Amino acid sequence: MCGIVGGIGKADFRNFVISGLKKLDYRGYDSAGIAYLLDGEITVVKTAGTVEMLDEKVSAFQGASMAIGHTRWATHGDPSEVNAHPQWSEHKLVYLVHNGVIENFRALKTRLKARGYRFLSKTDTEIIADLLEFHFESNGRIFLKALEETMDDLEGSYALAIMVSGDERLYFAKKGSPLLLGSGDGAAFLASDCVPMMGITKRFVDLNDGDYGYLEPERIALFNSGRQIRPVFSERKIEDFDYDLRGYPHFMLKEIEEEPQVLSRLVDNYFDPETGDYLFDKSMLRAIREADEIIFLACGTSHYASLFGVSFMEFMGKPARSYVASEWAYHPVCLSKRPLYILISQSGETADLIACQKIINSEGRPNLAVVNVKDSSLARRATYFCLVYAGLEVAVAATKSYIAQVGLLALLLGALTGSSSPVRHIEGLIGGINDIIARKGEIENLAEKVYQSRDAFFVGRGDSFKAALECSLKLKEISYIHAEAYPGGEIKHGPIALIEENTPVVGLISDGATALPLRNNIEELSSRKAATYIVAPASLSAKGDAFVTKDIKPYLQSLLNVVFGQYLAYYVSLKKGLPIDKPRNLAKSVTVE
Ligand code: F6R
Repeated sequence: MCGIVGGIGKADFRNFVISGLKKLDYRGYDSAGIAYLLDGEITVVKTAGTVEMLDEKVSAFQGASMAIGHTRWATHGDPSEVNAHPQWSEHKLVYLVHNGVIENFRALKTRLKARGYRFLSKTDTEIIADLLEFHFESNGRIFLKALEETMDDLEGSYALAIMVSGDERLYFAKKGSPLLLGSGDGAAFLASDCVPMMGITKRFVDLNDGDYGYLEPERIALFNSGRQIRPVFSERKIEDFDYDLRGYPHFMLKEIEEEPQVLSRLVDNYFDPETGDYLFDKSMLRAIREADEIIFLACGTSHYASLFGVSFMEFMGKPARSYVASEWAYHPVCLSKRPLYILISQSGETADLIACQKIINSEGRPNLAVVNVKDSSLARRATYFCLVYAGLEVAVAATKSYIAQVGLLALLLGALTGSSSPVRHIEGLIGGINDIIARKGEIENLAEKVYQSRDAFFVGRGDSFKAALECSLKLKEISYIHAEAYPGGEIKHGPIALIEENTPVVGLISDGATALPLRNNIEELSSRKAATYIVAPASLSAKGDAFVTKDIKPYLQSLLNVVFGQYLAYYVSLKKGLPIDKPRNLAKSVTVE
């Protein structure tokens, strides 16, 4: 994963790099580093810690003419200072930062070792610096050519920002990992996404795979496959990138509480109340109708959102399945003749999903990307794309984007069936979420009973099992409690053996048909001394239930269970004193397979 930034020209590069890396640390935060060019000399500072620690370590400097920075999510080599980026070449000609994975790095390392190169780090990145140096020394010292030759050698993914001793250009290259250029006033920039450059420039160049070149203060030189190409500029609006906590202690809490507003925005963008028409691309709706099967692909939380998509499609009589992207990419099953793929991703940059999209595109099949980032890789390569309008999601744990994804799928169902009812039902959902927000203190009290547990179980049936999956993912990722989700009926087929005295079990009820059998399942666990807590809508609630949600339309009801689970995870993590917005080992955008 990792985030990179860089710039050249007239700018406060200390501030640009450090604040830029802070905005990119959703891409990884286990180590960080900076290199800058000042008075003809390149200085490197690195830390085996967060960007905040880097900030403390880097002395104040002004007047640098170029800089690059990196925040890391370790793939090769532990998160130590020596493995942090920038990495440099044997003779300190090349300094670079890298996002991606070099698959053939072992073979390249052996080749370089045979030529006398020595390696300080365990990273796959250091070999890129050495390869660049090697080609530069062998080809008559033309750096652009060395970059082309190095790109020919590399297998895998990379976004690179490269400084070269004695060279006044900032070089870059991209394949598989995101990279954007920005053109400012007397300066040019690059970064893994546009956020570090917002406020400094409004003009961006989205790079394509195979693009490379260099930046000068007033110039972007862009190449692909040996030919120079003209950069295509686009604009981004600063209001789309709200980085302010607005008084909240954590982004996760802020983002949960933005869910009502996110759903309203979603409706505003996809439904015209005057005409009663949905505003989806008509050719996309036609393609979905004409498909003989819908295949959903996604990862993590987005995968759990896609499970609702399957139910919605089945409701309208359309065969549908959902696969975890990283599994489907290696076993791309499709048994239908005219499938349409729906790829769901908050970031739009998830490598496992991009791998699936490559397969789909190579077969010329239509695919719809449901994303939260308009200019993301998935959106740009999809046949159709729909934005979920959740706004910037900073906390690593996805919350509002999940609600927006399911909300979008509900609106899509409305558009496909020609019914405006989902719009009203989403209004009901908004009311239900607002009610939970107002009563979050009850969930905080419940967290008090759970936070010291080693294990926890979420049990549901039907839609509430989908909710259970998401609730258990939220709890494990930010509270580090081992959490599992099971369909109520399954628990006695094995998992019940795990139940010990006081093991917390949360039973999630969302529909009348399964309420009673689920209560029976929970009862069986209570008899084994589990500490059981039931969450149910008012009309299905009973005395002693731990939390009661508002009654809304049954097919959206279990989303209220998820909001309950989001709060529970938040408060448990808070009580444990954990880094809620940046849980260990995780990153917001998973750009490695
Ligand atoms: C969990 C979480 C992850 C992501 C997954 C897919 O809170 O955020 O499970 O859902 O990494 O990411 P996107 O949706 O960006 O493709």
